[in-house]
Amino acid sequence: MTNHELPPLPYDYDALEPSISEQVLTWHHDTHHQGYVNGLNSAEEELEQNRENGDFESTPAAMENVTHNGCGHYLHTMFWENMSPNGGGEPEGDLATRIEADFGSYEAWKGEFEAAAGAAGGWALLVYDPVAKQLRNLKVDRHDLHALWGSHPILALDVWEHSYYYDYGPDRGSFIDAFFDVINWESVEDEYQTCLDHFE
Ligand SMILES: [Fe+2]
Repeated sequence: MTNHELPPLPYDYDALEPSISEQVLTWHHDTHHQGYVNGLNSAEEELEQNRENGDFESTPAAMENVTHNGCGHYLHTMFWENMSPNGGGEPEGDLATRIEADFGSYEAWKGEFEAAAGAAGGWALLVYDPVAKQLRNLKVDRHDLHALWGSHPILALDVWEHSYYYDYGPDRGSFIDAFFDVINWESVEDEYQTCLDHFE
């Protein structure tokens, strides 16, 4: 059984200021993300115990806890990697070409992604869909609702209130703008290349 652990942030807690404050990043990583890691571990322990005992009464609820906390853990891990104090700008190379091919233009992709981020009750994701072999934007509620099975996130933006309310109040749009100032496009390009290597 895997014992999931909280990965360290790939930069200091104050490294993303002023886009994200040291206080918010500390709470978000150390408390919220840690909570999803703990929740995933305990849900998996419960499933294991139920299998050993042959008693599956609490198993469906534990399965829900696996997807809620597992998606929370995985998406937060990607979210941290998707940002950098040296971030910002626009995608380059193969990813830029693919965004233009699949969305029409960078501006059209960005407008669609921002619409998802403005409306989501969880996350806006840029994903690679290996069935259709195309990039898509998804609007995800909580951590695991309105997912597209099989798709691989390559850019994740957390729009839960714990992600921005302390810094921006109800002005989620300013937080989304600030996120674009710190996007680590190299990390997105790396994830995209991994998808190409596997599926194309
Ligand atoms: Fe979060």
